[in-house]
Amino acid sequence: MTKFNFEEETTREGTFSIQYEGTEPVFGRTGLAPFWIADMDIKTPEAITEAMKKRLDNGIFGYTIWKNPKFYGPVKQWWKSRFDVDLTDDMITYAPSVLYTVSEAIRLNSEKGDGVILTMPTYNAFLKVLKGNDRKVVSCPLIEENNEYSFDFEHFEALCREPENKVYVHCNPHNPTGRVWTREELQKMKDICLQNDVFFVSDEIHMDFVRPKEDFVSMAELMEEDDPILVTTGLGKTFNLASLPHSYFITKNEPLKEKIVREFDHRYNVGTANSLILAAIEAAYMECGDWVDELNDHLEGNFDYISDYIDEHLSEHLSFKKPDSTYLAWISFEKSGIPDAVMHKALVDIGEIAVSPGHMYDLAENGRFRMNVASSRKRIEEGMERIHRTIERLKEESKV
Ligand SMILES: Cc1ncc(COP(=O)(O)O)c(C=O)c1O
Repeated sequence: MTKFNFEEETTREGTFSIQYEGTEPVFGRTGLAPFWIADMDIKTPEAITEAMKKRLDNGIFGYTIWKNPKFYGPVKQWWKSRFDVDLTDDMITYAPSVLYTVSEAIRLNSEKGDGVILTMPTYNAFLKVLKGNDRKVVSCPLIEENNEYSFDFEHFEALCREPENKVYVHCNPHNPTGRVWTREELQKMKDICLQNDVFFVSDEIHMDFVRPKEDFVSMAELMEEDDPILVTTGLGKTFNLASLPHSYFITKNEPLKEKIVREFDHRYNVGTANSLILAAIEAAYMECGDWVDELNDHLEGNFDYISDYIDEHLSEHLSFKKPDSTYLAWISFEKSGIPDAVMHKALVDIGEIAVSPGHMYDLAENGRFRMNVASSRKRIEEGMERIHRTIERLKEESKV
């Protein structure tokens, strides 16, 4: 028996949501059915909303200390109960956002002009952060075969050996492909980085969407005292809290931790916590494990629906491998032969749907788009119909 309703109709009206109201700069118009940016059309669990309401009732939202047992306790409890990882207070540091931490880790471990290694495809904001920090994007493309992605260790090692490449930004689970890395792969990546003095940043914000959850291995598990490794994560994806900026990072490298905290406190003066998010973290991590499990079952159902729909109606044009994680479907239209620009324009003009063009996550076109499946089944059905309609019309126009 399920306890939670993920089919509930939701609205973002009046909330200035980027998903709905922010399509113009990326897709050239508004009024599209949105399945692009990674937030959910699913309400945050009630236990979290209630905890925030209770905090609101206090009426005072002054500067807030994050170093307190109600922050550390729930974070440690979550990691132990979900992933069997033992964290200690001194390994955990609150920070304003995941990207903020990625950016600081890069700034503190490299100089302008140095190389930062990224896999391709990559989460697009990593590209933005490297550009914003005047670092060079060093591309280590994943190896793709039939929509399965693997890591190119030989290429990676060669890149790590180059003295100007100072940092590797890893994504686990991987956005956009949904690849979950194994313990052996992670150990190998870590060994190569350590042997070559390359700092290892692991962005694990999608960690709660690994199916089954036991398959998630965090870099935090492989860390040893003083390792030049940092894991950054948060609750923004898992509990749909992205507009309440926060994150936390995990490291056993005390000097690095102190350096980052000094930057937060003295360079930017953002060392205090968001009081609402502290209430949310406690409720989420202490009370909402069942909700996350059921949400993952719902997402799995949505991915099955997409997979079946493609098999039934679109197998000549699309291919898709169900990911082991995330709520992002990475769909290939390579076999359709439709050029990227034609497909992306048609999805907007004909299907009136906003899915993320694959080239947002790469340095080149890749014959793919990324579709966010974190909504009711009804919305996913509508999304697939729009994609179907787009391809049918292209066929009629002899573009396929
Ligand atoms: C891999 C990854 N990291 C980080 C973020 C964003 O995190 P934050 O908003 O805390 O910077 C996202 C959001 O899509 C993401 O997919």
